[in-house]
Amino acid sequence: MRIDIITVLPELLESPFSHSIIKRAQNKGIAEIYVHNLRDFSKDKHRRVDDYSFGGDAGMVIKIEPTDNAISFLKSQRDYDEVIYTSPDGEPYTQKQANILSCKKNILILCGHYKGIDQRIRDAYITKEISIGDYVLTGGELAAAVITDSIVRLLPGAISDETSALTDSFQDKLLAPPVYTRPAEYKGMKVPDVLLSGNFKEIEKWKMKQSLERTKRLRPDLYNDLMNQE
Ligand code: ADE
Repeated sequence: MRIDIITVLPELLESPFSHSIIKRAQNKGIAEIYVHNLRDFSKDKHRRVDDYSFGGDAGMVIKIEPTDNAISFLKSQRDYDEVIYTSPDGEPYTQKQANILSCKKNILILCGHYKGIDQRIRDAYITKEISIGDYVLTGGELAAAVITDSIVRLLPGAISDETSALTDSFQDKLLAPPVYTRPAEYKGMKVPDVLLSGNFKEIEKWKMKQSLERTKRLRPDLYNDLMNQE
């Protein structure tokens, strides 16, 4: 899978893709991630990519020309399954969307910045607008990193124990159960006996009960959805 990201702050995206699972996925050829500096597509002698907003609102707006140049150039190289714009007014991002996006071949992500992007770009090119939560970040770069990370870790071979992605929180609409590792007892705090029992069936039953309890307590919205669905 290939993910291209267009941003005014490429430096912000260096670290998130240079470690651990995401780095390994790239080294193994499972994922290709390319970060493009929007300024490289500006014909302005100062490489400016923003300008004042028509209508007199405060804050700068990303200009149409460099953005059109960047998207047109990338689209001339390959077909994109989705052209995503990261913005607080986008559709709330969920695990379901991550699963769907992880089945695509090529994705282009345009990071919002400043007051936003000229609406004509959104109208002409964007196929999906995504928000990673009801709060405002200084730009869409961290959102692009979150989206990319959540997709790449789902690609076959990205996580060594493939079943582990399937047992994540949200993957079956439930929060994941608690986990423990050695030692079995620490300063009087014990790991639940059932996990040491070796009884696979009992362990699975315990995990499901824990997941249900946690979801009911911490995310009653998810729990009620699940109960109403059944
Ligand atoms: N840009 C600024 N805030 C954002 C958010 N919550 N989600 C996606 N992009 C953003």
